[in-house]
Amino acid sequence: MGQLFNRHVVLGITGGIAAYKAALLVRELQERGAKVRVVMTRGATEFITPLTLQALSGNPVHQELLDNEAEAAMGHIELARWADLVLVAPATADFIARLAAGRADDLLTTLCLATSAQVLVAPAMNQGMWKDPATTDNIAMLEQRGTRLLGPAHGTQACGDIGPGRMREPQLIAEDVAGLFSRDLLDGRRLVITAGPTREALDPVRYISNHSSGKMGFAIARAAADAGAITTLISGPVSLATPDRVRRVDVISAEDMLQAAQAELGQCDIFIASAAVADYRPVAAAEQKIKKSSEHMQIELVRNPDIVATIASGAERPFTVGFAAETQNVESYALAKLQKKNLDMIVANDVATSEGGFNSDNNAAVILWPGGRNEVELTSKEQLARILIETIAARYPAAPAA
Ligand code: C5P
Repeated sequence: MGQLFNRHVVLGITGGIAAYKAALLVRELQERGAKVRVVMTRGATEFITPLTLQALSGNPVHQELLDNEAEAAMGHIELARWADLVLVAPATADFIARLAAGRADDLLTTLCLATSAQVLVAPAMNQGMWKDPATTDNIAMLEQRGTRLLGPAHGTQACGDIGPGRMREPQLIAEDVAGLFSRDLLDGRRLVITAGPTREALDPVRYISNHSSGKMGFAIARAAADAGAITTLISGPVSLATPDRVRRVDVISAEDMLQAAQAELGQCDIFIASAAVADYRPVAAAEQKIKKSSEHMQIELVRNPDIVATIASGAERPFTVGFAAETQNVESYALAKLQKKNLDMIVANDVATSEGGFNSDNNAAVILWPGGRNEVELTSKEQLARILIETIAARYPAAPAA
C-alpha cells in the first residue's frame, strides 16, 4: 500500500451522484497517513452532507468563498498554500469546464487557481457528457496545463447507461495519489537492510537467538520500496511476508548475514542495519546432537563480527544507518555508537520506558546524525519506518564521500 504520511490533501467534491464515494475516499487517504481537508461545491452538498465529511475528515468543511467565519479559521489562500495536492473527486463536467476556463466563481475553482500544488481530477459524469467534444477539449486543455486525470472508469452508470464516465474507485484513486508522492523520494537508490534475529547453532537442533520479530526492518523495507528504492532485505529467520517489490535474502547466522551484506556492497547506496545480531556464537557447532550427561555444561562463545561497523569501514562505504536499543543515557550512548561504528545516522530506542519493542507493532525513537536529531513519539512501526526513510532521503546527498 502506498503511503501519504503527513501529506496535506485538499479534497474537492463537486455535485454528482458519485459524491457519496468521496466519504470512502477520505478514509482511504487517511489510512495512508494523509491529513485531509474537504472543500464542497454547493451542488455536492445536495448529494452528501458536509457533516458527514466533517466527521470523517476531522476538520470543518470549506464551502463558501465569501464566508467570514471560514476565512478567519483558514482562508482560501491559506488553504491553497496548505495543500500538498488538490484532488477533485468526483469532478463533474461543469466543474471541469469552469476549471478549464480559469473561472474563480466558487471556493474550489478559486483554490485550484491559487494553489501551486498539483491538481488532480477524477471525472464522474454520464457517458454522453464525457464523450461530448466540449468535455474532450476541456480535458485536453487541463492536461496540457499539468492537471492530472484519474479515470474515469468504464461501466454501469447511475442513469442506467453503460460506458466511460464512472468515478474511479476510491481505493484506486488513493493509490494513485500515494504513488505520486512516494515514488521519487529515493528513486533508483539501491538500499540494503538487515532485519530480524540471527541464530547461532550449538548443534544440529539447538541455537542461541533472541526475540526480534523483524517487524521494524520489514516496515523499513516496505517504506523504502514505496519511496522508489531498489530494496534488498537480508533477513534472519522470521515469520513475515516479503513486502512487494523487495528482494529478500534469507540468512541464519551473523556470519551468513555479514557475507550476504558484503555480497551486496557493490550495489548499495544506503545500508540500514536493523537486525538484532547475536553478539556471540558458540566457538564451534557440534556436528551431532549434544547428549545430556553431567549436571553442568559450559559453552564457549566467541564474538560475532559487527556487521554494520564492517560495512561502514569499507572502502566503498554506503550511507550507513544503525540502530541502538538502550535502557539509559539513550542519546549519549547512541551518539557514541554512531561515532564508534562510523555511521551516518542512528535510530535510538529507549527499551526501558518505551512501549515499543521487539514484538510490538509500535515504536518510539530519536533519529540522530552528526549535528541533528529527529524525535519520533510512540507511533506504529510503519509510520516510524516512513519517517526514517524521509529523514534518510533528506540527509543522503549530504553524506560524506568514502
Ligand atoms: O552494538 P549494538 O549491538 O548495540 O549495535 C546495534 C547496531 O549494530 C544495530 O544497527 C545492529 O543491527 C548492528 N549490529 C551489527 N552486527 C552486530 C551487532 C550489531 O550489524 N554483530
